[in-house]
Amino acid sequence: MSLVSGPGRGVGGTSDQKLYVEKHVDYIKSLDTRKDELEYWLTEHLRLNGVYWGLTALHLINHPEALPRDGVIDFVLSCQQDNGGFGAAPGHDAHMLYTVSAVQILVTLDAVGELEKRGRGGKEKVASFIAGLQDRETGTFKGDEWGETDTRFLYGALLALSLLGLLDLVDVPKAVSYVQRCANLDGGYGVRPGAESHAGQVLTCVGALAIAGRLDLVDKDRLGGWLSERQLDNGGLNGRPEKLEDVCYSWWVAASLAMIGRLHWIDRDKLAAFILRCQDPEAGGFADRPGDMVDVFHTVFGIAGLSLLGFEGLKEVDPVYCMPREITAKCLAR
Ligand code: FPP
Ligand code: ZN
Repeated sequence: MSLVSGPGRGVGGTSDQKLYVEKHVDYIKSLDTRKDELEYWLTEHLRLNGVYWGLTALHLINHPEALPRDGVIDFVLSCQQDNGGFGAAPGHDAHMLYTVSAVQILVTLDAVGELEKRGRGGKEKVASFIAGLQDRETGTFKGDEWGETDTRFLYGALLALSLLGLLDLVDVPKAVSYVQRCANLDGGYGVRPGAESHAGQVLTCVGALAIAGRLDLVDKDRLGGWLSERQLDNGGLNGRPEKLEDVCYSWWVAASLAMIGRLHWIDRDKLAAFILRCQDPEAGGFADRPGDMVDVFHTVFGIAGLSLLGFEGLKEVDPVYCMPREITAKCLAR
């Protein structure tokens, strides 16, 4: 039985290819109540990202109510620093990646207005932190005041600013020409000019070009070829040649293919079956590959990958934003 072909949003799994929705809800809810466990504190540097991953997964599996809206908003705002950016947790320095997660969470909860209401300087203050990280010479972005650059930060900046409706605060054409400099002859993109192609970086570069309205610059057949070679016999995807499969590439690779209209270049049924094998059917959550320990990062990207594939019962995900499409569509139409 085909998992993902067929009309509309596809058909569901067979009994051994079931999505354990209730278990995943319980797993994500449990993450906030395990504060006595060492793992909770070891992952403090990821806290705001973790909330974005958990909340997005819950929305995609149609359980948006499973985390308390007010509590999440209070937590997000408690991570904001005086410069307008957000840190991973209260008291942590502001950084691009956490600021992007904060914007994604606030948009998902339709709560961007709280930035103004609670005297945080509104969305303009957040946007000015992001815009201040652009290197006006090259067009790329730093992650924080310390200056490391990476296409993740460029993509994150365009993603957050577009959701806030403030993309005009940065030099988008310069950012686009920087992305073009990261393109390689194999069709892929690296973390900076001259660096090896990596599927994670492909997602960031293609996502940035999508937001800038410049997907015409992508060599879609060549990139589609490189991306579809990421699928292994077991159905899973890797991030570059000679590497192991990993559920998170079900997002980085498949979302990139979706953005360039080439998702049908991989075997979607085999990928869906691989993703489902990465679930923990008892405790909930997804691992990087079957039998490994689950975590919330692989949980959201497993579920988002299934949504891209049209798996039954899931909300449709936006391949550019990794958020429910109905939410990004409403936000971007404003
Ligand atoms: C591992 O690389 C890296 C990842 C699994 C994440 C890749 C994703 C991105 C760079 C995009 C992130 C985007 C944002 C906006 C945060 P590795 O070289 O350790 O692993 P490998 O063995 O699979 O190549
Ligand atoms: Zn992974």
